[in-house]
Amino acid sequence: MTTNRRHFLAAAAFAGVAPAVHSEVAAAPANSDEVVLLNDTHIGEKQGPDHIHPQNLQRAVKEILALPHMPAAVIVNGDLAMSVGTPGDYAAFIKLIAPLREAGHKIHFTLGNHDVREEFIRAFPNEVSSTKFSDHRHNGLIDLPNVRLILLDTLKECPAAPGLLGAEQRDWLIRQVDDCTDKPVVIVAHHNPQAGGDPMHYPGGVGDTAEIWQHLIDRPQVKAWIHGHVHDWNLAMDHRIHVVNTLACNMVANKAVSTNGWTLARFAPNGVQLDIHTHLPDHPWRAEKKWLFWRQVKSV
Ligand SMILES: [Fe+2]
Repeated sequence: MTTNRRHFLAAAAFAGVAPAVHSEVAAAPANSDEVVLLNDTHIGEKQGPDHIHPQNLQRAVKEILALPHMPAAVIVNGDLAMSVGTPGDYAAFIKLIAPLREAGHKIHFTLGNHDVREEFIRAFPNEVSSTKFSDHRHNGLIDLPNVRLILLDTLKECPAAPGLLGAEQRDWLIRQVDDCTDKPVVIVAHHNPQAGGDPMHYPGGVGDTAEIWQHLIDRPQVKAWIHGHVHDWNLAMDHRIHVVNTLACNMVANKAVSTNGWTLARFAPNGVQLDIHTHLPDHPWRAEKKWLFWRQVKSV
């Protein structure tokens, strides 16, 4: 075990601090800095029980239920629906994740470019956004002992790929960052920023990245941007801000080089451990653990 890893493990072994949660967040179990990242489920009303998409989501749900500790949150990071989110798509999705809700898991959502905001709101009347913008967005805020997670709705239009924040969203994001001075901040959004990662994916990323990125670089508490959308799994960095592309629950652009599954993130004061859960039991990525350490820019 390396010194760094020992340090990380020691830091992760915090005790007795209950997560501070905002009004829309149900009480999470004490001692929990674990978060499930599930994205791009792409569930459609016309998919029968033998379809691979519901089967994969059911597999993920079963594995999440079997975790030794209930995570503080399950984040479904966009593209819940197959193509252009319909009431039937969301009804099918809700049925598939019902066992998580029945077991008491708190589930949070961001929206992707295959979701339809109005239909999402109708399907999830009890989901409350952390913001009340004139142009509605379904945003969220999760404060855990070791991290503030800012969940951004980056849906611009369905089903076109590019995402967008907009001025209201950008201002709110910066306020949430500035408001958090005692622990790291991690952004969770469906779309990739146009920074870090493969520039090939920039056209489909957050279109106004340029108007926010320097502000994030300048705020040392910002440590990472976690996204889906690309349907692949890889890690990148820009100005030592981690850009984490989590693998999709369903559909990969290139089966030869990627696969599907979900991710368990375990936050510590100085980084995060990512556990990869591929749907394929014999995939080389399965049970892979990645340790990301936060940039040390001043001290936060
Ligand atoms: Fe997707």
